[in-house]
Amino acid sequence: MKSVRNHYDEFLAPVYSWILGDFENAYQANVELFASLELSPEYGDLALDLGCGPGCQSLPLAERGFSVIAIDFCQELLDELEERAGDLQITTVCADLREFDQYIDEPPGLIVCMGDTLVHLPDTAAVDKCIDRVSRALKPGGTFVYSIRDYVSSEPAGADRFVPIRADDQQIFTCFLDYRDTVVHVHDVLYRKEGGAWKMHISDYLKLRLDTAEINQRLQANGLDISRQMTEKGMIVVVATKSAST
Ligand SMILES: C[S@@+](CC[C@H](N)C(=O)[O-])C[C@H]1O[C@@H](n2cnc3c(N)ncnc32)[C@H](O)[C@@H]1O
Repeated sequence: MKSVRNHYDEFLAPVYSWILGDFENAYQANVELFASLELSPEYGDLALDLGCGPGCQSLPLAERGFSVIAIDFCQELLDELEERAGDLQITTVCADLREFDQYIDEPPGLIVCMGDTLVHLPDTAAVDKCIDRVSRALKPGGTFVYSIRDYVSSEPAGADRFVPIRADDQQIFTCFLDYRDTVVHVHDVLYRKEGGAWKMHISDYLKLRLDTAEINQRLQANGLDISRQMTEKGMIVVVATKSAST
């Protein structure tokens, strides 16, 4: 089985934007989400995008006026983000997102960790530690937005464990999900037309089965209020706000 980092570096990065249903669609969904959440900076306010991927959150945040630090450990996805960023205020950092506080010299007004990224951390202790760091780092009155898929409330069985992601006449991408007690063993299956014939490539890794109730409790214990929770395109989105007086 691959580490998450190797899975992205060696398998997923070249097709990641394509499996999003094309970058433009994922970008537009975030433009609309951030508008509905009314996420706006004071001038120059810093936003951190943890696990930014190709930038479908970083770009809309920079367009809303945030100065964005976009952190990911996959350089190929950061290169894509940089190509799209143009003159927008986005600085990319190739690093482990858990070390984000090494790359900021002022408290961010906004931290996002979206698109099912938290589930990639190695265990729940690492998630707790990350939540604590995020809570401490935020500016008083600042906002944390995370989004994850629901791997807790039901367990697909039989044929439901095969999830078609995207297909065209050159490639077909399917996920096979094997649910265990605390993790989902994810197998990404890519068929690609190579020299006129279909060739299969498979890579597998683990995702944590995280419970938003537990993450939210941790945020609340750290002095944040859960101001919104909703489900958007199969993803649970949670907005938490740090008290202005902390
Ligand atoms: C599912 S993608 C989400 C990307 C983007 N936020 C989105 O919504 O499309 C998860 C991203 O997190 C990155 N990632 C996972 N674990 C990481 C870690 N510990 N440090 C840095 N990046 C990480 C992966 O490289 C990948 O780009």
